[in-house]
Amino acid sequence: MKLEEIERICVLGAGTMGAGIAQTCSQAGYQVTMRDLTEEFVESGFERIRVPLERRVRRGKMAQEDVDEIISHIRGTTSLEEAVRGADFVIEAVFEEMGVKKEVYQEIDQLCPPEVVFASNTSSLSVTEMASATSRPDRFLGMHFFNPAPVMKLIELIKGSETSDETMALARDLSFRLGKEPVVVKESAGFVVNRLLVPMMNEAFNLLMEGVATAEDIDKAMKLGTNMPMGPFELADFTGLDVGLAVMEVLYEETGDPRFRPSPLLRQYVRAKRLGRKVGRGVYDYRGD
Ligand code: 3HC
Repeated sequence: MKLEEIERICVLGAGTMGAGIAQTCSQAGYQVTMRDLTEEFVESGFERIRVPLERRVRRGKMAQEDVDEIISHIRGTTSLEEAVRGADFVIEAVFEEMGVKKEVYQEIDQLCPPEVVFASNTSSLSVTEMASATSRPDRFLGMHFFNPAPVMKLIELIKGSETSDETMALARDLSFRLGKEPVVVKESAGFVVNRLLVPMMNEAFNLLMEGVATAEDIDKAMKLGTNMPMGPFELADFTGLDVGLAVMEVLYEETGDPRFRPSPLLRQYVRAKRLGRKVGRGVYDYRGD
């Protein structure tokens, strides 16, 4: 498969990342299918795309016709078969659990012609293990986008043990075509960004637990002291505390290194379902917003 041959991209998952990736692909001129398990999930994926774009229309940053155009090139579906039909490239952003992902890959492996490349947007799981559920481990890689996917420039390209150089080259070309900057990363827990970023967020929870400073002051310190656009707790609430905890668990399990031990406070918040903005409450409370 060559870049010029890619016309239709299938995105599996209509959550924050799936919807953002579908939008990114549509904006780059591709025909996109976006699949999730229920009509409700698919519709909320479209909402995730529509709301920030319509905010841009209200600010005079883009025309309503452009929003309509972006959305018109994305076809929502709950059928896996329909989602992958005619797709030249598949980007998977389903629930971050190895068992779930492998099941999806086993199924689409039967449905897609052998030349179709599978890319997982996993934030920390093994690409090699996911690829082992398919008959095409050479045409399988990790393409890790960042939230919000239409805005963030980076894509980490993760080479599994069997990923071919041709597949890496195609994903690199596609990343540029999507208006992104790729970096190539060897398979390792958390890759580059999450290995650095998530332990920093985790340590912020330890600081808060120890009463070193308030959440507001920890965020303020990092924003004003390091020019981060969001403090560690704002970012944790934005990306999801459950997502951060899952990354810490993978880092800890894979390395056994006590530096990566999940903060007990982070774990407690997740147990209390304080998962961040998506549920209205994380470190901060958004329910009045
Ligand atoms: N689609 C299109 N445009 C969008 C958008 C979307 N979904 N979301 C935001 N934008 C645009 C806005 O319209 C605006 O553009 P404009 O100025 O031309 O109108 C621009 O992005 C900035 O947005 P806002 O003005 O609303 O707000 P901010 O200036 O505060 O920026 C932010 C928001 C880009 C989210 C910024 O706060 C930021 O960069 N935060 C850090 C994000 C980050 O670190 N992400 C990585 C998380 S880690 C991760 O994802 C990995 C995972 O595995 C855990």
